[in-house]
Amino acid sequence: METPDMSSLKLSRPELIDFEGISMIHYFTDNWENVKNFKARPDDILIATYPKAGTTWVSYILDLLYFGKDAPERQTSQPIYTRVPFMESCFQVIPSGTDLADNLTTSPRLIKTHLPVQFVPKSFWEQNSRVVYVARNAKDNAVSYFHFDRMNMAQPEPGDWNNFLEKFMEGKNVFGPWYDHVSGWWEKKQTYSNLLYLFYEDLVEDTGREVERLCSFLGLSTSPEEREKITKGVHFDAMKNNKMTNYSTLPVMDFKISPFMRKGKVGDWKNHFTMAQNEQFDEVYKQKMKNTTVKFRTEL
Ligand code: A3P
Repeated sequence: METPDMSSLKLSRPELIDFEGISMIHYFTDNWENVKNFKARPDDILIATYPKAGTTWVSYILDLLYFGKDAPERQTSQPIYTRVPFMESCFQVIPSGTDLADNLTTSPRLIKTHLPVQFVPKSFWEQNSRVVYVARNAKDNAVSYFHFDRMNMAQPEPGDWNNFLEKFMEGKNVFGPWYDHVSGWWEKKQTYSNLLYLFYEDLVEDTGREVERLCSFLGLSTSPEEREKITKGVHFDAMKNNKMTNYSTLPVMDFKISPFMRKGKVGDWKNHFTMAQNEQFDEVYKQKMKNTTVKFRTEL
């Protein structure tokens, strides 16, 4: 699919709604019947994340791994959001995520979702499709989400940072609580072997190593040179300057407020949290994460 013409796309900021106990917006629930009944295929690869955890980065890595050599025109002519459909999205003036996915002619299909694990269409589990989950430490994830909500007119109004952080701790964000999202997917991994659980911080630390980990999970044999090329191609600066990966073709985002590829760093939370906010956040974190075994590098 070519870059969609979205000059007529005028979205109003949505309100949060309660969707089976999870905060959502209608852009992700309007197409629910089709999402619920989505027909996954055995060779599909589902890229699952809490928003702002590195979805686009991993999507691009996978796209290059599968199509970089044989279909390079894909990378220069199609924005990442049409190459890797966002399953639950339904922005009315562009095809819904399920329609985009249904119409993909390439294989495997790479499909993105931010759904909490309990909402994922059951066909993915029935078909034993592969899943790559990416998690990011809570504090940086919250900061990134705040700036995203500020600049994306299709997201709810975030208020100021104080306000936003309070809501984040309460789980009042689109796609619900970060805490339940990362731990729910972690639990799934214990019983579903076709799931690779990655961390944003590991990708930052050594992208090449994580690309190798992806290859071994997906059973791909790539040469060290190919992996090196991909690692360079997905560097933050390369993606920030690439119109097909930096979301600058989506008019609902106001890059004057904040770019999509904002900083790409670990530890930016230190520039946002006050000492009091940090202490409160750590307390809430301890409580909310007490029953899960997923471990983030909290020293970051
Ligand atoms: P920041 O806002 O902290 O900069 P998603 O794709 O899930 O929406 O995540 C977006 C976040 O991932 C943004 O974080 C963005 O800058 C970061 N990101 C995207 N590509 C990256 C890359 N190649 N290297 C490091 N961070 C990247």
